[in-house]
Amino acid sequence: MVETLPVGRTQLQQQRLELKRWVMAFLSSHKTLLTVLWIAAFGSVFLWQRSLGEAGFTIFAKAGPGRPIPKMRPFAFNLTDFGGVGDGVADETAAFERAILAISKFGKRGGAQLNVPPGKWLTAPFNLTSHMTLFLAEDAEILGVQDDKRWPLMPPLPSYGQGRERKGARFGSLIHGQNLRDVVITGHNGTINGQGQSWWKKYRQKLLNNTRGPLVQIMWSSDIVISDITLRDSPFWTFHPYDCKNITVRNVTILAPIFEAPNTDGIDPDSCEDMVIEDCYISVGDDAIAIKSGWDQYGIAYGRPSRNILIRNLIVRSMVSAGISIGSEMSGGVSNVTVENVLIWSSRRAVRIKTAVGRGGYVRDITYRNLTFDGARVGIVIKTDYNEHPDDDFDRKALPIVRDISFTEIYGQGVRVPVRIHGSEDIPIRNVTFRDMSIGITYKKKHVFQCAFIEGRVIGTIFPAPCENLDRYDEEERLVLRSESQNVTDIDYDI
Ligand SMILES: *[C@@H]1O[C@H](CO)[C@@H](O)[C@H](O)[C@H]1NC(C)=O
Ligand SMILES: *[C@@H]1O[C@H](CO)[C@@H](O)[C@H](O)[C@H]1NC(C)=O
Ligand SMILES: *[C@@H]1O[C@H](CO)[C@@H](O)[C@H](O)[C@H]1NC(C)=O
Ligand SMILES: *[C@@H]1O[C@H](CO)[C@@H](O)[C@H](O)[C@H]1NC(C)=O
Ligand SMILES: *[C@@H]1O[C@H](CO)[C@@H](O)[C@H](O)[C@H]1NC(C)=O
Ligand SMILES: *[C@@H]1O[C@H](CO)[C@@H](O)[C@H](O)[C@H]1NC(C)=O
Ligand SMILES: *[C@@H]1O[C@H](CO)[C@@H](O)[C@H](O)[C@H]1NC(C)=O
Ligand SMILES: *[C@@H]1O[C@H](CO)[C@@H](O)[C@H](O)[C@H]1NC(C)=O
Ligand SMILES: *[C@@H]1O[C@H](CO)[C@@H](O)[C@H](O)[C@H]1NC(C)=O
Ligand SMILES: *[C@@H]1O[C@H](CO)[C@@H](O)[C@H](O)[C@H]1NC(C)=O
Repeated sequence: MVETLPVGRTQLQQQRLELKRWVMAFLSSHKTLLTVLWIAAFGSVFLWQRSLGEAGFTIFAKAGPGRPIPKMRPFAFNLTDFGGVGDGVADETAAFERAILAISKFGKRGGAQLNVPPGKWLTAPFNLTSHMTLFLAEDAEILGVQDDKRWPLMPPLPSYGQGRERKGARFGSLIHGQNLRDVVITGHNGTINGQGQSWWKKYRQKLLNNTRGPLVQIMWSSDIVISDITLRDSPFWTFHPYDCKNITVRNVTILAPIFEAPNTDGIDPDSCEDMVIEDCYISVGDDAIAIKSGWDQYGIAYGRPSRNILIRNLIVRSMVSAGISIGSEMSGGVSNVTVENVLIWSSRRAVRIKTAVGRGGYVRDITYRNLTFDGARVGIVIKTDYNEHPDDDFDRKALPIVRDISFTEIYGQGVRVPVRIHGSEDIPIRNVTFRDMSIGITYKKKHVFQCAFIEGRVIGTIFPAPCENLDRYDEEERLVLRSESQNVTDIDYDI
C-alpha cells in the first residue's frame, strides 16, 4: 500500500504519521513504564532507519524508494555499490568510473544497468561504455563540477577544424561516449544538470580560451536512446550526437534560461542519420534543435551528411534564436528531414534554415507539416548570409544548394513577420512549396511575406498573401498565376 505513494519523502511522512498514531493508541491503553521503554526503543529504531537514508528499508513499510526501478538489462548495479554518496558535496567521479568499468565487462552478456538513486551526484566528466543503461531515479540529479580544470580538453571535431567558439582544443562533454553501441540514458525523470551558470559567465567575460563542452556528447556511435529524463543548464549545446546512426530522443525535457545562457542549444544532430526526436519539451537559451553537418572546408572534407531525421510532437521555445534550425554548419549536407506536429511558442524565430557562401553542401528534401507558431517575431526563415567561418581559408566558391522544401498546414498567431526567405544570387532557394498556411500577424504592413531569390509555389489558401516570387495554384493544384520575377527582393529586417 505504502509502495504506491509517489515520492520517498511522502513515504517518510506517512511512516511518521503511522508511528505517531500507533504510539497514541498504545499510550491510551497501557500507561505503564513499559510504554516509555517501548517508545524509547521504537524511537531509536526509527532514528537508525533515518540515518540509513529515506530510501533505506523500514519495518513500517516495504523497502524501496518512490518508484521501483525497472530492470532493463540482465545485470543492474547501484551507484552506491561503487562508493557513490549522493549528498551533492562528495565527488562521485571515481564512483561513476568504477561502475562503468565494471559494466564494460558485461557487454557479451547483454550489458548492465547503472541505477542512480535519489540524491545529488556531483561529478567531473566521465565516459560511457557500450551496452549500458544509465537509469536516473526520480529525484536523482547528476551535477557537473564547475571547475573547468576538471573538464578534459579534446581535439577539435574533424568536420569543424576548430573549436566552434575558440580556435584549437575544445572542452569535452560532462557525459561523453565514443565508438559505442547500444547505450540508453533513461529514468523516472531524473536530471542531468550541467550547472552551466559559471561557464556562461566566463564566456561572457571572455575568460575562456577553449570552446565550452556539451552536457551529453556521443560520437561515432549507434543505437542510442535518451528518454524520460531532464537535461538542464548545459555549459554549451545540451545533447550533441556526432556522426552517429540510429538515435532516439523521446519524452525528454531540456531546460536552460531563455536569456543569458549562450549557445545552450537543446539537441544538435551533427552528421547523424536515422534519428527520431519526439514527445519532448525544450526551452533553452539558443536553438531548441539545430541539425548540422560540419563547418566550411572541414565539413566538406569530412563529408558526412545528416539525413533521415524525424522530429515530431514537440513543444519548443527559443527567445534568442529559433525553435527548429538547420545549419548554419551544414557543409556535409542535410537531407530527408521531417518536422511535424510542433508547437513553437514565445520565440524569436519559429523554424530557420541558415547557411552561407563557403559552406558548400546542401539542404534538401525538408518537410514541415502541422506547425503552430504561438508568438514569434519571425515564423519561417531561410538565411543565406550567416557568415561565421572557422578561419579565412574557406572556399568562396563553395556555394550551398538549398531546395525541395515544403511547408504544409502552418498555423499561428501573434507573428510579426510570418515568412522571410532570403535567397541570394549566389544561393537561390529552389522548389519551395507552401500549402495551407494561416498565420495571424501583429504588424499591419503589406510585405510581411518577404522573399528574395526564391522559386516555388503556393497551393490553396495562404495567409498572409504570398510574395510575388511564387507561382500560385488553387486547391486542385491548377496553375492560377505564374510568377514573373523569382529574383525580386523584398526583405526588410527593420520590421
Ligand atoms: C541504492 O543503494 C542505496 C543505499 O544502499 C539504497 O538506499 C537505494 O534504495 C538503492 N537503490 C537502488 C535503485 O537499488
Ligand atoms: C573519454 O574518452 C575519450 C576517448 O578515448 C578521451 O579522449 C577522453 O579524455 C575521455 N574522457 C574522460 C573524462 O575520461
Ligand atoms: C514521460 O516521462 C514522464 C516523466 O518521466 C513519465 O511520467 C511518463 O510516463 C512518460 N511518458 C511516456 C509516454 O512514457
Ligand atoms: C520532469 O522534470 C522537469 C524538471 O523538473 C519538469 O519540468 C517536467 O515537467 C517533468 N516531466 C514530467 C513528465 O513530469
Ligand atoms: C588564456 O590565454 C591567455 C593568453 O595566452 C592566458 O593569459 C590566460 O591565462 C588563459 N586563460 C585560461 C583560463 O587558461
Ligand atoms: C536502433 O536502436 C535501437 C535501440 O538500441 C534498437 O532496438 C534497434 O534495433 C536499432 N535499429 C536498427 C535498425 O539497428
Ligand atoms: C527518410 O527518412 C525517414 C525517417 O524519417 C525514413 O523512414 C525514410 O526511409 C527516409 N527516406 C529515404 C529515401 O531514405
Ligand atoms: C498538429 O500538431 C498538434 C501539436 O502542435 C497536435 O496536437 C495535433 O494533433 C496535430 N494535428 C494532426 C492532424 O496531427
Ligand atoms: C520539389 O520538392 C518536392 C518536395 O517538397 C519534391 O517532391 C519534388 O520532386 C521537387 N520537384 C522538383 C522538380 O525537384
Ligand atoms: C535570377 O537569379 C538566378 C540565380 O541567381 C539567375 O540564374 C537568373 O538569371 C536570374 N534571372 C533574372 C531574370 O535575373
